[in-house]
Amino acid sequence: KQIYLKDYAPPAFLISETYLDVVLDPAETRVKSRLSVVPNPALKRRATEIKLDGELLRLLRVCIDGAPVDEQRLVATDKDLTIRDVPAKPFTLEIETICDPAANKALSGLYLSRGVYCTQCEAEGFRRITYYLDRPDVLSKFRVRIEGVKPDTPVLLSNGNLVQTGDLPGKRHFAVWEDPFPKPSYLFALVAGKLAMVEDSIMTRSGRAVTLRIYVEPGKEDRCDWAMKSLKRAMRWDEDRFGLEYDLDMFMIVAVSDFNMGAMENKGLNVFNDALILARPDTATDSDYERIEGVIAHEYFHNWTGNRVTCRDWFQLCLKEGLTVFRDQEFTADQRSAVVKRIEDVRWLRSMQFTEDAGPLAHPVRPSSFIEINNFYTRTVYNKGAELCRMLQTVLGRDGFRKGLDLYFDRHDGQAVTVEDFVSALGDANGADLSAYLLWYNQAGTPTLDARLSYSEGAKEARLTLSQTFPDLPGQPKRKAVPIPVKLGLLGPNGGEIPLEVEGKPVDGGLVVLSKKKEVFTFEKVGSRPVLSLLRDFSAPVNLNAGARDKDMLTLIRADTDLFNRWQNAQAFALKHIVALASANAKGENARVEPRFVAAVGEVADDDTLEHAYRAAFLALPSESDVALAIGENVDPEAIHQARTLLRAAMGKSLRAILESVYERSAPAEPYNPDAESAGRRALRQSALSLLAAGKSRFGIARVKEQAKTATNMTESFGALSILSQVGGEAYDQALQRFHRRWKDEPLVINKWFALQASSPSPDTLARVADLVANPLFSIQNPNRVRSVYGAFAHGNQVRFNDASGAGYDLIANAVIEIDGFNPQMASRLVGAFESWRIFEPKRRALAGKALGRILDRKELSPDVFEIVSKIVGER
Ligand code: ARG
Ligand code: ZN
Repeated sequence: KQIYLKDYAPPAFLISETYLDVVLDPAETRVKSRLSVVPNPALKRRATEIKLDGELLRLLRVCIDGAPVDEQRLVATDKDLTIRDVPAKPFTLEIETICDPAANKALSGLYLSRGVYCTQCEAEGFRRITYYLDRPDVLSKFRVRIEGVKPDTPVLLSNGNLVQTGDLPGKRHFAVWEDPFPKPSYLFALVAGKLAMVEDSIMTRSGRAVTLRIYVEPGKEDRCDWAMKSLKRAMRWDEDRFGLEYDLDMFMIVAVSDFNMGAMENKGLNVFNDALILARPDTATDSDYERIEGVIAHEYFHNWTGNRVTCRDWFQLCLKEGLTVFRDQEFTADQRSAVVKRIEDVRWLRSMQFTEDAGPLAHPVRPSSFIEINNFYTRTVYNKGAELCRMLQTVLGRDGFRKGLDLYFDRHDGQAVTVEDFVSALGDANGADLSAYLLWYNQAGTPTLDARLSYSEGAKEARLTLSQTFPDLPGQPKRKAVPIPVKLGLLGPNGGEIPLEVEGKPVDGGLVVLSKKKEVFTFEKVGSRPVLSLLRDFSAPVNLNAGARDKDMLTLIRADTDLFNRWQNAQAFALKHIVALASANAKGENARVEPRFVAAVGEVADDDTLEHAYRAAFLALPSESDVALAIGENVDPEAIHQARTLLRAAMGKSLRAILESVYERSAPAEPYNPDAESAGRRALRQSALSLLAAGKSRFGIARVKEQAKTATNMTESFGALSILSQVGGEAYDQALQRFHRRWKDEPLVINKWFALQASSPSPDTLARVADLVANPLFSIQNPNRVRSVYGAFAHGNQVRFNDASGAGYDLIANAVIEIDGFNPQMASRLVGAFESWRIFEPKRRALAGKALGRILDRKELSPDVFEIVSKIVGER
C-alpha cells in the first residue's frame, strides 16, 4: 500500500507518558504497557476510537482506567489494534502482550543477537514490542522496568537514567530506567545480556559530568579505545562548532554482532553494529578506523539533530539524516584532511547517489510517497540530503549557517518538524528567502550544469554562460530550475588566480548562484584568455558539463590553486579516457593510453609538498561502475574492466620509478598509529604498490609478497592480500589460506576475507562464491556476513555480477528470495544491486530481466522487496 506525504494528518491522540514493564524470556517476552493517553488538543473533533500499531504480538489484556476492556470493543488485525468507545478525556491505557525475540530474524523490534537481547525500533520496529502510536510525531516520556534472569542478563539497559535496581527470587533481578526527554517510539532502546563494559567520562562545556560507557561482548574490551576517543572528540567538536552539549548524565553505546545497518541513535543508548566499534591495529584497517570515528560522531550528533528536534513524519527523514551526515562530514574534515574528506565524499556521492538518481529508484530527497519506509534510508536521503545542507552553508557562509541552526533549535527543541521548518529557520536567521531551495528537496534527478566560457580580448572580459537541464526520468514530472551555487576561479596563463570582478565589485568567495535556467556572468578586467576552474569544492550536486579542452584540463590538474579541483579534473579526464579505451576495446580497435594524463598524475604522486592521503586519492581511478554510468547504455562490463586494467597497467609501467621511490620514502612511523597522517602514508604506499603490481613490477610484487607475510597491522596485511588477489596464482592462494588460518575465529576479520574473494574480477569468482556461502563461517542470517559475500559480489563486482552467463544474476536472485523469507530489509537492500540493469547490452539485459521476473513472480514477497523490484522492472 502506497502512503503519501499529502495525506499527513496529525494524530488523534497523544501519549504524554509511557510506562513499560518488560519481563524478558527468549521465546515469550511479556510486555505490560501503561500509557497516559490524551486526545490531541490541537484537533477540534474528538475521536471515539484509538488505533494502535502492532505486529507479531500476542494480545493478553487491555484495560482503560483500570477496568478491563471487553472483546467487542477490540478489533485486532495483523498490523493494528482498534479500541472502540474510548473516553473523551485523558485516560490510562494498559496493554499486556507477548513477543518472541528468539524467532525474530528480521532484526527489527526486540531480538536476540548471540544471547544478547537488543532492539531496533527505527523506523517502525517499536510496534513489534507493544501496541502503540508508532509514529515520530507522538513524543512521550518513558519509564521502563526490565526484569530478567540474572546469570543470563546481568546487564539491563534502556534510555535515560538508571533510577532503581533490585534482586528478585529465583535468580532474577530488575532495573528501572527513566528518560526525562520526551521522545518518539523509534528512539526507544532496550539491551540485556552478558556484556563487558569500558568506562570513561567527560565534562561538558557548562560543567556536566557525563559517564561514557561502551558495552561489548566479554573479551573484546581491548578493542574499544578508538571508539571511546572518537566519542570524546565528537562531543567536544559539537560544542565548539555548533554550541551543542550533551544533556544526560550518562551516554551508552552497545556493540552487537547482528545488525541490519551501521548504527542507531536511540536516546542515551546508541546501538551499533560491532564492525563500527571494535578496532585493534591487528584486526582493523585505517578505513575501519575512519569509519568508526565518523559513525560514532554521526550517532552522537543525532542527539540534537534527530532526537531533541525530530521528524514530523517519515517523509522528513532527510531532516535528521541529511543534516547529521553533513555534520559528521564536517567533523571528519576537521579531524583529518578537509580536502581528502571532500574527495572521498564526492567520489562516493557521484558513484553511488548519482547512479540511484539516474535510475529506476530515483526519488526526491524528501519523497512524496512510499510503500515501505525502510526502503528510503537511501544514498539520496542521506548523502544528497547532506549536500543540500552543505549548499545552504555555502550560500549563507559558516557563521550564517550556524546562526540559522541556533534559531532552528530555539524554535523547535522538543518538537517534530518538517523540512520547511528547517529551511525557514536558516533563512529567517539570515534575513534571506531560501524557499527556492525547497525544490532541491522535492525533485528527483541530478541536474546537469553546462558551462561555456568566451573571452573578449578587446573588452578584457570573460563571459561565462551557465545553464541547467534535468534528465528525463520515468515517472518523474517535469522539473523546474533550481538555484545552483557555483564556486569558481579563473586561472591566468601561468596558473595564477585572476581576481573575480563583476560590475565593478569583487565576487565574494568566488561564488555565483545560477538561479534561472540560463544566466550569463561577465567577469571584468581579465587580462588574457583564462582557464576556468569550475564547481570548486563540488559546491552543488550536479553533473558538470564544462566542455573543457584536454589542454585546459591538464593545466587544471597540474596547477589549479584549488586542490579539490585538481582532483576533480583528473577524475573527469580519467573517466573520459577510460570510456574511450572501452569503446575502442569493444570495437576491437587498438587503444592508446594518453601519456600526458599519466605524466600529470605522476607529478602529483611525486610531490612531497602535498599530503600523502591526497596523493593516494589522486592515484585512484574512477570505478568500473562509474565508467558504466558515464556510458549509460549498451554497456559491456568486460570492455570496461579491460580498459581500466589497461590504463592501470600503463600507469604502473610508465610511473615505475616514481612509484617505487614514493613507496620507499613514505613509510609511516612505527608503531602503528591510526591517525590521518600515518594512514595517509599507508594509503599512498598501497596505491603505489597496487599500480606497480598492475604494471608487473618485480620490485612491487616482491614487496607485496613480503608485506603479506610480515605486516603487523591489518591495513598492510589486508592491503597486501588485496593486491595479491589481482596478481593471482599460487602466492595468492597461499596468502588467502594463511589469512584464513590466522583469523578464522574473528568474524569481523573473516568478513574481509569473504569480501575480497567475492569482489575478484576473476572468472572463477562465481564458483568461489558458491564455496564461500557453504563455508561453516558463513551464516545467511548474519547481515555482516551477507554483506561481505553477496553484498560485495552484487554491489562491488560489476564484471562478475553482470557475467555474460547470467549466473551472477541468478545467484543474487536466489539469495534475495531466501533472505526475504526472514529479513525483508536485508533482502531489499541486496536486490537494489539490480538498479542499473537496463544500461547493459541486450543479452545481459535479457538475463537480468529474467532473474528479476523470477523474484517478482513469488507469491510471498515482502512489501520491501516488492517495492524495489517492481520499480526496478518498471514500465519504460
Ligand atoms: N537512524 C540510523 C542512522 O542513520 C539508521 C537507522 C536505519 N533504520 C532502518 N530501519 N533503515 O544513524
Ligand atoms: Zn543517521
